[in-house]
Amino acid sequence: MGPRLVVDAALELSVVGSFAAPGYAIRRRLFDWEDPGRDALRGRTVAITGPTSGLGRAAARSLAAAGARVLLVGRSEERLRAVHDELAAVQGDDRFPVLVADMASLESVAAAVRSIREQEPRLDVLVDNAGVMPADRLQSPDGIELALATMVVGPFALLAGLLPLLRGNGGGRVISVTSGGMYTQAVDFDDLQWTSRPFSGPRAYAMAKRIQVALMREWARRLAGSGVTCNAMHPGWADTPGLAESLPGFYRLMRPLLRTPAQGADTITWLATAPEAGRSSGRLFLDRRPRPFDRVPATRLSAADRERLWEIVVALADVPDPAPD
Ligand SMILES: NC(=O)c1ccc[n+]([C@@H]2O[C@H](COP(=O)([O-])OP(=O)(O)OC[C@H]3O[C@@H](n4cnc5c(N)ncnc54)[C@H](OP(=O)(O)O)[C@@H]3O)[C@@H](O)[C@H]2O)c1
Repeated sequence: MGPRLVVDAALELSVVGSFAAPGYAIRRRLFDWEDPGRDALRGRTVAITGPTSGLGRAAARSLAAAGARVLLVGRSEERLRAVHDELAAVQGDDRFPVLVADMASLESVAAAVRSIREQEPRLDVLVDNAGVMPADRLQSPDGIELALATMVVGPFALLAGLLPLLRGNGGGRVISVTSGGMYTQAVDFDDLQWTSRPFSGPRAYAMAKRIQVALMREWARRLAGSGVTCNAMHPGWADTPGLAESLPGFYRLMRPLLRTPAQGADTITWLATAPEAGRSSGRLFLDRRPRPFDRVPATRLSAADRERLWEIVVALADVPDPAPD
């Protein structure tokens, strides 16, 4: 291992040093990162969920700056319009269609799929970014616990529906935005929806994120050789409205050390643009490098567990199996 990789690995072990702003700044210098050129995604189409705030908004900006047509998929027309108007003004053209969709509603996701398939001749990148940490146990319109519905079931149905478009160009990229919080949380197969124990927002969130990563690995395995790659990334800790609202104590304590949204979102754009990222599938990234799936052995999921989760989520999403084994 070269000296730069040694520094990177030591940072990763420190957790706080890695996840907070110093981790980003050190790695950026260490590896001489460059931003994608203005034409890196020219002629390509990217769909991103949750572009109205925090990391999603930062990613939408940099994907737009890389030349992509960016489909802005979110639940508030007003907030989407504001992002659209900002991107169109900064980029000087209008390649940012707005699509209202609630990721927690399967009917809404199905409508979004229909609309994208009707209107878009191609889709090159799908960024699954929308996320929520509910304070209480809430249910989606489909009766699914809200964290699971928003970050697992809805995104699964969205990807299932858009797969034909992603396959169409022979090289689609799927990017799941997860959280380092998932390292601490095991998946309780007997209570995936928090019906038989006291609800904890942070734990429900972390479990949904762990399931999201497990499914991304399963997508990657099932789509191997198809040209479609599926990777997850976690952003470290970034100063966003979502973090401030969902973990106020942590936010106050860590604020001076948090990454900017653009720093947290950097690896999203890198995964969408870098040629080497296009050769990777089924991995979890932080700061442009693959990272371990597990840090706590008790939270590890086996290949059989991942297949089991796939079957469960296919049933919850109420779609035909999009990639049968
Ligand atoms: N910030 C961090 O340090 C951090 C760390 C680890 C992981 N993450 C992950 O990064 C992603 C972005 O988080 P953030 O920190 O940028 O949070 P944020 O500021 O709260 O942004 C969340 C985005 O998700 C959208 N969203 C939430 N529920 C939705 C739904 N049902 N349907 C459609 N869109 C929905 C929100 O839309 P509205 O504008 O309509 O609310 C917003 O655009 C999330 O997946 C989060 O879990 C963040």
